[in-house]
Amino acid sequence: DDPGLVDRWGRRARDLRVSLTDRCNLRCSYCMPPEGLPWLPDPQLLQAEETLRLVRVAVERLGVDEVRFTGGEPLLRQDLPELVAGTAALRTPDGRRVRTALTTNGVGLDRRAARLAAAGLDRVTVSLDTLDRGRYERITHRDRLAAVLRGIDAALTHGLDPVKVNALVVRGVNDDETPELVRWACALGVELRVIEHMPLDAHGDWDRSAMVTAEEVLGRLRAVFRLAPVGARGSAPAERWYVEEGGRRLGTVGVIASVTRPFCGDCDRVRLTADGQVRNCLFAAHGTDLRGLLRGGADDETLAEAWRGDMWAKRAGHGIDDPSFVRPDRPMSAIGG
Ligand code: GTP
Ligand code: 5AD
Ligand code: SF4
Repeated sequence: DDPGLVDRWGRRARDLRVSLTDRCNLRCSYCMPPEGLPWLPDPQLLQAEETLRLVRVAVERLGVDEVRFTGGEPLLRQDLPELVAGTAALRTPDGRRVRTALTTNGVGLDRRAARLAAAGLDRVTVSLDTLDRGRYERITHRDRLAAVLRGIDAALTHGLDPVKVNALVVRGVNDDETPELVRWACALGVELRVIEHMPLDAHGDWDRSAMVTAEEVLGRLRAVFRLAPVGARGSAPAERWYVEEGGRRLGTVGVIASVTRPFCGDCDRVRLTADGQVRNCLFAAHGTDLRGLLRGGADDETLAEAWRGDMWAKRAGHGIDDPSFVRPDRPMSAIGG
């Protein structure tokens, strides 16, 4: 009888992604429409102590040892330092610390990095698709590039490392810019990861033929740099490469090919949404509501058992290529990145 979060295909979840809100202060074109979305109503959102209860159950009973806070935009939560501190204070059954990470768009990180680091945050990943102010505004519908760059600097200053930068390539907007982004990231000492666009946008206009593939990105990079494989990927989604130019190693770059080279077979992730559903996959058709159980007075083992049940039903893969593929019942911003 395995007490952890295992599925019928033999995978085990150790990496918990906690979405803290479905709201965002940007409007990335590949994610949500300019007018925003119908947000989850406040009474449905978990309070910080409810979130921490579920995180504690995952760490103490279900084998989770890594927690990433996501959104929407998690920096919109004023109580983020408390959530981080509460998580960082947890110990696994064999006495290990929980590693903590944050996925953010970086707006406002400059003012908050010190406090988050002090609360026990280990590292951050900042989403940034372009270094050009006009392009940034075209993609996000907001003029906040300078704020994001300050946020990345602050993360480095306060030791939230490794700092990673996630870049999505949008055809016709920033698809010529990847080598420049790589050069910038290497010079700054952050790791750039180029991500394939997945069919998880709110408006449903994902189009495979418009998607910029990992192969295409690697081709553009190889036209400028020499790329040498870093080695085994393990359960990480990114394939990593050393970036070399004129015999000099500039740094590394990662490519996350979720669509064309799925890594579902090695997946070790599980998700908790802002309204207290657990989801065994980014592409799960729906979640299992733990909020109802929690608010109904369930004890820790009852919550853990419901969570194990959800995990057991995890599908083998995301199935984007199956003719019968159906998108999840909510967009990525309401599931967690
Ligand atoms: P590290 O913990 O730093 O290794 O982060 P990560 O590599 O897990 O990546 P991160 O959480 O920053 O996610 C980066 C991108 O990977 C996301 O924006 C998604 O495009 C993709 N991704 C993350 N989780 C999943 C997942 O469960 N399934 C799939 N198919 N893609 C995912
Ligand atoms: N496909 C892939 N990645 C996405 N992100 C947002 N929407 C999508 C999508 N449809 C990425 C953002 C950010 C992270 C949280 O998720 O670029 O880096
Ligand atoms: Fe916000 Fe992230 Fe969606 Fe962009 S991708 S709109 S930063 S939730």
